[in-house]
This record gives sequence, C-alpha cells and structure tokens, in this order.
Amino acid sequence: MLEKKRGKERIVYLDGRFVPESQAKISIFDTAFHNAYMVHEAIRTFNGKLFKLEEHTARLFRSLRCARIDAAMGPSEMKKISLEVLEANQHLLGENDDYWIYQHVSAGVVPQFRYEDRTYKDSTVIIYCWMLPFKAYARYYEVGAHAITPWVRRISPQCVDPKIKTCSRMDLNLGTREAKLIDPDGYCLLLDEQTNVAEGDGYNFFIVSKGVLRTPSLRNVLGGISRETVMELAKEMKICVEETDIQTYDVYNADEAFFTATSYCILPVTKFNGIQIGQGKPGLLTKRLLEAWSNKVGINIVKQTLSHLEEK
Ligand SMILES: Cc1ncc(COP(=O)(O)O)c(C=O)c1O
Repeated sequence: MLEKKRGKERIVYLDGRFVPESQAKISIFDTAFHNAYMVHEAIRTFNGKLFKLEEHTARLFRSLRCARIDAAMGPSEMKKISLEVLEANQHLLGENDDYWIYQHVSAGVVPQFRYEDRTYKDSTVIIYCWMLPFKAYARYYEVGAHAITPWVRRISPQCVDPKIKTCSRMDLNLGTREAKLIDPDGYCLLLDEQTNVAEGDGYNFFIVSKGVLRTPSLRNVLGGISRETVMELAKEMKICVEETDIQTYDVYNADEAFFTATSYCILPVTKFNGIQIGQGKPGLLTKRLLEAWSNKVGINIVKQTLSHLEEK
C-alpha cells in the first residue's frame, strides 16, 4: 500500500547510524535478502506512544536466541534506539495517525559472500517506522473479515518453531495469495499438519463459543502480544479463555470469531470459507474486548481507524 505522506523523509536506524529512509541501504548479500534469514518485531503506537515495547523487545531477543543471531546489543539498547527512531519521526504523524515501529535483525552478510580483506558484523540491525495502514482494514470493523483456509499448511513446529517471529514466511505469503484469489476481501487462516487451526499472515485467531474464548495453544502459533493482551483483558472481564486445539468444525459453529494483531488489535471475522459465523456481524464479546482495549490505551481504536475511511 502506498503511503499517503510523501515528500518528508523518515529517519531510519541502520547499523549504528540514523539516516534518511532513501539512504538506508543493505547489501544484496545480506541474509535478510539472500535467504530471508532474519527475525523481526512490529510494535505500534497509540497516540504516538509505543505499546508494550518491553514485551515486543523481549520476544525479539527470544527469537534471536533460537535463530542463533547475535544482535551485538542488548534489549535496553534496542529499546532506546526504537524510542529514538520514534522521536525522530514523531513530527510526521498527522491527526489520528499512529506508527508501526519495526525492529529487524538479520545474520549479516552470508558467510560465503564475504570478501577476505573486509571485516563484517554478524548481524544487520534496522529499525524504522511506517504509518499504520488504517484504511486497508477499517471496513472490517463494521462488516467483519472473511477467513479462508488455504491449501498451504502453517510450518510444522517440528521444522521451525512458529514462536520464532521470523521473516521467512513463504507459508503465510502463499496463504494470503490463495485467500485473495478466492475472495479479494479474504484473510487466510492456516491449518497445521494435523488440520487444527493455526494462525494467519500476521495475526492470531480466536473464536467465542457459548461465552468461552478459545484460541490455539502456543504449540503451533506465534505468541502474539495482542493475543496475550486479549487474554489479559478477558481475565479482567472474568471471561473464560481456553488455549486448545480448534478444528474447522468449531469455527463453523462458533458464535463469534476475530483476529488479533499489533496493527488492528482485534478484527472481527464474520465469515469462514463462505459460511456465516454466528449472526454474520461483529459479535458482542468482540466489541466489548475492543472497548476494553480502547479504554486501556486511551484511544477509541475503531473510531480512529474508521476516521481514515474517507481518505483519498
Ligand atoms: C505469524 C504471526 N502470527 C501472529 C501475529 C500477531 O502477533 P502480534 O499480536 O504480536 O502482532 C504475527 C505478527 O506479525 C505473526 O507474524
């Protein structure tokens, strides 16, 4: 999606330097580009303030450890630089805008592509921001999204643990491509090898059945920070949550369903493989959770997003 604000360049952190976005260049021999060997985080702001920076950065360092990448800095420095990137770009935020801040760490230049007479770092660290694309998903708060199970399965935990937030996302990318072929408004929802529901291309999944919130356990999905936030809110609201195996049968028969992700927080799902879920509109519990999240961050999440619908 093209960004609406052009002209004024954002500042990016790349390997120890703050540079304008157009000058942030990495080698074509970097593992990030060469074989998608990179882990990352996406953190959002509410009213220009980062939400759960601590939790996201902690997850980044857990991913780095499993991916065997040494960022050559600790979590404190990563957080400090992330805040500096945000500060350097705050003035570009318009009314009702908010940012994603991305932390990307690759394994540096592929060892086979290193010149003998040069020195290399064993990681490349990039931190940048991007305006949240509210307009892209705003209408789904009102009508709900269509979840579609593609043929491709979520990568098995026996191969790569989905708890590592990696940029190697061929399964998820293919899932999106297939879902969009079936319905341009479709969002993929991948199953795992045992045909249990897993997650989508950048989001976790919940259903509501008889007042109980159910979501796949961390065996086959990323431990989403938004997933965690929903579970915290549910606890405060005395709503029962089950982390469990979910089959397509359960989704077809659910009363409500929704996705969770850093950008939209909670996105109602009202259709599954062409079949209406519950009443076919965003559910009551889904709306209550969105309201509770809005109260937590002091911003009406839905209203903020819908305010972007009129944009050209
Ligand atoms: C595969 C996958 N699942 C779930 C999520 C949602 O995680 P979070 O709530 O931390 O944004 C993401 C986020 O990008 C993701 O990539």
